[in-house]
Amino acid sequence: MLLIKGGRIIDPASGRDEIGHLVLKEGKVDGVLSGDAPEGFAGKVVDASGMWVVPGLIDIHVHLREPGFEWKEDIRTGTKAAAAGGFTSVACMANTEPVNDTIEVTRFIIEKANREGSANVFPVAAISRGLSGKEMTDFAELSEAGAAAFSDDGKYVANPLLMRRVMEYARPFGFPVLVHAEDPDLSAGGHANEGWNAIRLGIAGAPAAAEEVAIARDILIARQTGGRLHIQHISTKMGVELLRMAKRAGLNVTGETAPHYFTLTDAALEGYDTNAKVNPPLRGEEDRMAILEGLRDGTIDAVASDHAPHDNYVKDCEFSSAANGIIGLQTSLPLTLALMADGKISPARVVELLSASPAQILSLRGKGTLAPGADADVTMIDPEEEWEFRKEDILSKSKNSPFIGWKLRGRAVITICRGVVRYEAPRGAV
Ligand code: DOR
Repeated sequence: MLLIKGGRIIDPASGRDEIGHLVLKEGKVDGVLSGDAPEGFAGKVVDASGMWVVPGLIDIHVHLREPGFEWKEDIRTGTKAAAAGGFTSVACMANTEPVNDTIEVTRFIIEKANREGSANVFPVAAISRGLSGKEMTDFAELSEAGAAAFSDDGKYVANPLLMRRVMEYARPFGFPVLVHAEDPDLSAGGHANEGWNAIRLGIAGAPAAAEEVAIARDILIARQTGGRLHIQHISTKMGVELLRMAKRAGLNVTGETAPHYFTLTDAALEGYDTNAKVNPPLRGEEDRMAILEGLRDGTIDAVASDHAPHDNYVKDCEFSSAANGIIGLQTSLPLTLALMADGKISPARVVELLSASPAQILSLRGKGTLAPGADADVTMIDPEEEWEFRKEDILSKSKNSPFIGWKLRGRAVITICRGVVRYEAPRGAV
C-alpha cells in the first residue's frame, strides 16, 4: 500500500485536477481522497506537496534497439532512461535485427522487459516482413503474441495497394496502423529540410512535401478502408493541416509529434551538429509554429519522443554520413512542460499529450488514468525545478541529444510502475 499525499492530482481522463491523496494497493489505483490526509496509514507514505501526481507517462514511439543493436541501447537501459524521464510505458519500434516481424521477436522483447525492464514495454511489430514494404506480416499471430500495434517505422509503406490491404486487415482487430510518412522518391538523397538553412550549409535537402504526400495518401486510404491510422512524428505545417482536415471529415486518424519538432528548427544544424540530424528533418519556423498550434487546438493527439539512440561511430562523422536520430526519453517531459510558458497549454493538456492520449491511441487498458482499478502507474512531477541536462546524467547507452547543456524546467521526481517505485530523483535534485 502506498499513499501519495497532498499532490496536485491531474487526471484528464477522469476530468480531475485538484489537490488530493492517491492510494495505491496491490498494483492498482485504489482511489483518490480529498480533504485531510488519512491518519495512521498502514503503508508507505510519500509527501507530494507542491508536486503534480499524474498517470504514468506513456511514450508510444521509442527505439530500444534490442535485439541486434545492443551497443546503442537495450531493453534494460532504455527502460531505465524511460523511468528517469517519468515514463512508465513505452512502445518500441520494429527496426531491430532481426526485425520484429515474428512472434519469436515479439515474445523475446516482452519476456526480457518483464525480467529486466523498469517500465512496461509494448512491442510494435512490423507491417511488412523485414520492413521490405512487400509482404504483410501475420497480424493475428503477432497480436496474439503481444504486439500492441503495427509500424514499419523508419520506412514508409510505399506500395499503396499493400497499405490498403494492411488497413483492411487491421480493421477488424481494431489495431492502429502507425505510419512513418515519407515518400522515399521525393526525399531521396536529402539529409536536412529543403530550405534556406540547408542551402546555406551546403546540405542536400528533402522537401516537406515528401512527408505531406505520404500523409495525404494514407489519410485517403484510411478513408477508403475505414481503418485506424496513426501518423508518426509529424513535422510540417501541411502535415498538421492534413490531419486537421481528416479529423474534421470524421476519419479515424490520429497523429503525434516529437519535442524536437516544436522546440528546434533547422537552424540547429549550424555547425553541422549531427545530434540534430533526424528523420523527418528539423523544419522551419513556420512549421514549428503550426505544430505548436496543432498541439494547442487538439489536432495533434500525442507527444512521442522517437527516442533513437545512436553510437558515436555513426554520429561523430561527416554530416551526410551520420545516422538520423535523437534520444528523447529524459527530455520529453520538460520540453513538453515548456509548452505551458505562454499559458496557451494547460497542465491537463500536457498530461493528456503524454499519457491519456497515448494510452487511447494504442488502446492500453488500465493505463493513462488514475481512475480506481487502473494500473498503479504513476509519475510524480516537480513542474518548477530548474536543472541542466548533462551528458553524465544520460541513462541511455547513447548520448545523441542536441539538448545536452540545456537548462530545463520540470522533471519527474518519482516514477511508479505497477505499484513499484522504478525511479526516484536523487535527493538534492528535488
Ligand atoms: O531519426 C530517425 N531515427 N527517424 C526514424 O524514423 C528512425 C530512427 C532510427 O531508428 O534511428
